[in-house]
Amino acid sequence: MSGHIAIVGGGLVGSGWSIVFARAGEVVRIYDADSKIRNNVLDVIQGQLKDLKSSGLVDNVDAILNRIEVCSTLQYAIGGATYVQESVFEQTDVKTEISAALSPMLGDDAVVGSSTSGIPASAFTEGLPNRDRFLVAHPVNPPYLAPIVEVVPTSWTNAAAVDKTMALMKKVGQSPVLVRREIEGFLLNRLQGALLREAWALFEDGYASIEDIDKTVSEGLGLRWSFMGPFETIDLNAPGGVKDYAERLGPLYHSIDASRQDPQPWSAELIDAVQAERRAVLHDSDLSGRRAWRDRRLMALAAHKTALKD
Ligand SMILES: NC(=O)c1ccc[n+]([C@@H]2O[C@H](COP(=O)([O-])OP(=O)(O)OC[C@H]3O[C@@H](n4cnc5c(N)ncnc54)[C@H](O)[C@@H]3O)[C@@H](O)[C@H]2O)c1
Repeated sequence: MSGHIAIVGGGLVGSGWSIVFARAGEVVRIYDADSKIRNNVLDVIQGQLKDLKSSGLVDNVDAILNRIEVCSTLQYAIGGATYVQESVFEQTDVKTEISAALSPMLGDDAVVGSSTSGIPASAFTEGLPNRDRFLVAHPVNPPYLAPIVEVVPTSWTNAAAVDKTMALMKKVGQSPVLVRREIEGFLLNRLQGALLREAWALFEDGYASIEDIDKTVSEGLGLRWSFMGPFETIDLNAPGGVKDYAERLGPLYHSIDASRQDPQPWSAELIDAVQAERRAVLHDSDLSGRRAWRDRRLMALAAHKTALKD
């Protein structure tokens, strides 16, 4: 694609997307409806770029910043864009309104990807004349450290729009995956949901502490998960590969699945108990410091994975 990338919504995720595209050499125009965000977003991005530079993940902060322009109108941001990344509030009415507003401003081939964490694009694009060029492109926050992008077309999205989005994401260094048809939670949050369901239930039933459940992931399962997924994991965990693994352990997993047939919402008492155990080890006032620690660890991991790319 030639032309610029438009980012609509310059909050947490929109500002992160700007880094992804500008870092890869694309010209970026950001529009946010809130003038305070517009006035502040370049400072936020500059701070994030400096952190990335100190981790060796970008070379030239100023060159990247110079490719990003903050716009005071939606029209200026969208006009001439080849791709639009919509990252406004996670509310169907807000997504519907902004999609309708930008739809007539789109060039003939421009595609719009929504960052939505869970609203299918069919819920906010149905009435648009060019609805075949709208889809979901769901990132993980921050997108410049976690490359996965879930591309989720509606039933009316055309194949060319899907192909363009997949190609663009690869070109800018992301790792797109295609969700062939709409499903609540897409792939990532469904997988996370399955693990969370079991984590809450094991704690509720008193089998282990929060700390030990978390440690089982951070010191066990999660180590492999930063470079391989569940299918490759089991393929390598039996002498004869995945078929052998299924024969040996399939009955165990079937029995576990059968023991969890009655989904319940997380109860208020359960949430309070988890909150109490977490706040005992991490005080409220230390949450933001720990988030910064997490981001530094992610940067070190991203640098490691970049160095090892094969
Ligand atoms: N935060 C995350 O971890 C995360 C991860 C993946 C996806 N997402 C998704 O990304 C989207 C944005 O989330 P966020 O966390 O950046 O929220 P945010 O509140 O930080 O940013 C949203 C921005 O959209 C702007 N906005 C609202 N209405 C607008 C409009 N009509 N025109 C232009 N700008 C408008 C707001 O002023 C705000 O700056 C949501 O759909 C969210 O579900 C968030």
